[in-house]
This record gives sequence, structure tokens and C-alpha cells, in this order.
Amino acid sequence: MQNHKDEKKGLLQLLRENRAAGCIPMHMPGHKRNCSAAYLQELGADLDITEIHGFDSLHGASGILQDAMQRAANRWGSRQSYFLVGGSTCGILAGIYAVVQKGDRILMSRNCHKSVYNAVELTGVSPVYLTPEWDPIWGIEGAVAPETVKKAIAENPDVSLVVITSPTYDGIISDIAEIANAVHEAGAVLMVDEAHGAHLDLSSCFVGGAVKGGADLVVQSLHKTMPSLTQTAIAHVCSERIDTCRFTDALSIFETSSPSYLLMSSIDECINYMQDPVFKRWNCAIAENKYIFSSLAKLRIFGCGDTLAEQKWKRDPSKILVNTRFCNLTGPQLATLLREQYNIEVEMAAAQYVLAMTGPGDTSETIGALAQALCEIDQICEKCEPDLHMPPPVPERVCGVYAAKRGRRCNVARSSAAGKISGEYVYAYPPGIPLVVPGERLDDALLQYMEDLAAHGVTLHSDTGAAPQVFSVLSMG
Ligand SMILES: Cc1ncc(COP(=O)(O)O)c(C=O)c1O
Repeated sequence: MQNHKDEKKGLLQLLRENRAAGCIPMHMPGHKRNCSAAYLQELGADLDITEIHGFDSLHGASGILQDAMQRAANRWGSRQSYFLVGGSTCGILAGIYAVVQKGDRILMSRNCHKSVYNAVELTGVSPVYLTPEWDPIWGIEGAVAPETVKKAIAENPDVSLVVITSPTYDGIISDIAEIANAVHEAGAVLMVDEAHGAHLDLSSCFVGGAVKGGADLVVQSLHKTMPSLTQTAIAHVCSERIDTCRFTDALSIFETSSPSYLLMSSIDECINYMQDPVFKRWNCAIAENKYIFSSLAKLRIFGCGDTLAEQKWKRDPSKILVNTRFCNLTGPQLATLLREQYNIEVEMAAAQYVLAMTGPGDTSETIGALAQALCEIDQICEKCEPDLHMPPPVPERVCGVYAAKRGRRCNVARSSAAGKISGEYVYAYPPGIPLVVPGERLDDALLQYMEDLAAHGVTLHSDTGAAPQVFSVLSMG
């Protein structure tokens, strides 16, 4: 029988002890921890259990899982932290569901991930968009300025919730402390989608994240930037403005009732592992990045992240952005060259830049290989004028997502799409930020922009699967 009160014992250790105890599992999962099939051995099924006696229950934790989540709360300094096994997606859905009432008005940055839009649809709230700043040289979205939030609050004083993505996929960090002040003055709640920034509050080599910044609810994908298995994430309730009963109730709606103990022990071990030695390695990696930036300063054509530092935005220095805007390569073409000729796979290829992620697992060899490859490619590419323009303004909203998705729809060709109301989302994944939302009117500038993205090698996702040639629109639109 496991001693789940032992604070020092992690979940993984208890799983190992359970395996060694050899108890006959007359319960799920169906593989019964019998790894005679090679794939089960490889996937670690001998540790894979469900919520059996002594192992607590994620939805209503009071034993080992509660202890583990308390360790997480201590690490980040939150009021209460919650392990998530459905990615940030389930934390975002649950967070919004827990905070709002049907019909509420909320503020959300337009560059939110599609999970925020899905939560809007499910909860029936009315969103007012905050437009992030824009970097015309890089062609990327920047931070959401506190002034933008203040102005939107002044125009919509009844908002109950503000949702910001910080950092962005590209590592741009908004001023959460100032935004939080403005939101709290208005009596609203600030939720930060920090899917890409779980590490920011844990080491002084980063500028700090949203928990320390004063947000009320923060959702982070551990799997994105920390050494943890895919799908693992965490939500931090940081203030009394969040009703934890409503939040746990919402989690029980959006998260599986059979959470994986492999994933939960990955979260527990990752948090433990992220103690000083790992962050020392991370410090080294960041120092290595700085070294690279200085060696990349002599690039003929590519821009490499540092020019962004001239902006007022704070950045996550572990993300390396490579600007292809002024050369004859698109982002996807550079990504293909890196893959095919240098065996380097980048995180994201946007129309005119590439995002390379670094982390504590990198070495001077891996980061050096990227720098070397970029220097070589920079030598052979040619200078040219940028041919992609600013994204068009947010399209006119004619009706809400819920109504649009349930309206009668038909497919139309690009040539007759202008003026019609979209019945679908269209977005590039990554980053999963909608270019158009159901219920918004397609206009020429937007359609042209989507065509430009596709011409730059960016794959667009939509219900028809054929954007930007074919769109699903409302029949009466
Ligand atoms: C900004 C942002 N938020 C949320 C998510 C969803 O995270 P997860 O994949 O952990 O569910 C993503 C995924 O890419 C994202 O980029």
C-alpha cells in the first residue's frame, strides 16, 4: 500500500512501487500492464494505471495528486494549481466557462488561439477584440498594449473577462502587470493564455510571466516549452476572483474522466526536474542564443530576432525568429531548406519568417548548427522587396459564431466570396489563430491576404479544406 502522504515521494515513484508490488489488475486499462506486446513496452504501459485505490482522483484530488498539485502551486506561487492532461485547450475552455455568464461581454486579443474562440461559442459571450501591435519590418504581431486594454474597457465598462495571449507563439510578451491593474480596476477578471510561457516565471533569465504579473487565471502548456510529455499542461488560479469550485466543475466538463497517470507523473517529474540545474542549463542555452545573435548580426539578408529587441516589447529569448522578408525565400522555403539540407526541423514556418525554438535540451552544437546553416543560406539567397503586406483589418462581424455555424451554408469559389458571411474558421496551424471567424464578412482585402499566404507556402485550414480557393459561407449571406 502506497504512502501517499509522503511529500517527497513523487507520483512516478508510486507508480514504480505499484508495478513492483505485482498486484493483479482486475481493472482498466485493458492492457493490464502486461507488456508482452512490444509496442506496450515501448510506450511504458507497465506504469499505466487508472484511478485505483491509493492513487487519488484528479477530479476531486485529496491525496497524492493534491500533494503534487500543491508542489506545483508552491513552485509558481499560485493560489491553487491544476494538472491538465488535455493540453492548454481544456484549461482555456474550463477557465472561460467558469468565469462568464451567457451574454457577457468579454475582451479578447484577436490573436487568441482557436480554443478561446471555441469557448466563446460554447459560452455564448459577446467578444470585443483587442488588436495587438504590429511590427512592420518583421510582419509579426506584437504585444497587446495596456492602453489598448484601457481604451476598450472605457468603451465597454461592463466586461467580465479579459483574455490575452502572452507570450505569443513568436515569444512576444505583453505587460501583464499593467493590464492586470486596468482589468481589476474595472472589476473584471484577467485570464492569460500562457501556453508558450510555462518557463517564464521560473527563472531570472526570463522577464517573468503572468502568475507573478498578477493575472487571475493562467494556463500553460508544459509540453510546449518544458521537458514534459505532449498534452501535459497546468492551470494556475492566482486570485480570489476565481471561484475554484466553478473552475473544478468546468474542468470536469472539458477534461477526460480517465486522466493518464503517465501524463500526470510527467507533469510532477517535470516540475521537480525544473529545479536549479536545469535552469542553469537553460541560462547557458540563452547565453548561447545571445552569442548566435551576435554572430548572425553580419548576415547579409536575413534578420534574426535582435531587430525586434529594438521594439518596446519584451521577448522570450529562447525563441529565435528568422526574417525572410527581404529575400527571395519564403518562410516555408527556408524551413524546407533547413530540413532537407541541414536536417534541422523548425517549430513554425510563417509566410515571411521562421521560428526556431531553443531550450535546456539544446547544446552549443545544436544551436551552432542552426547558426551555421543560416549563415550559409544567407550567402546564397538574394535580396528583394517584401511582397506581403499587413494583415487586413478585422472583418465586419455580422453574427455570432454559434449562429453562423448552425446557419445554412454553401460552398462558393473565391471569385464570388467577397461580401459573403463566413460559415467557417480559416486559419494557419500553427499558430491556430483564425484569419476569419464564422459570422464575419469576407472582404477583398482578406481574401487577397489569404491568397498571398497560400502563395507563400502557408497551408490554410478550413472546413472545406480548399481555402483560399473555396469558402463555406452562409447561404443568405
Ligand atoms: C497560444 C496558444 N494557446 C493555446 C494552445 C493550445 O495548447 P495545447 O496544444 O496545449 O492544447 C496553443 C497551441 O498551439 C497556442 O498556440
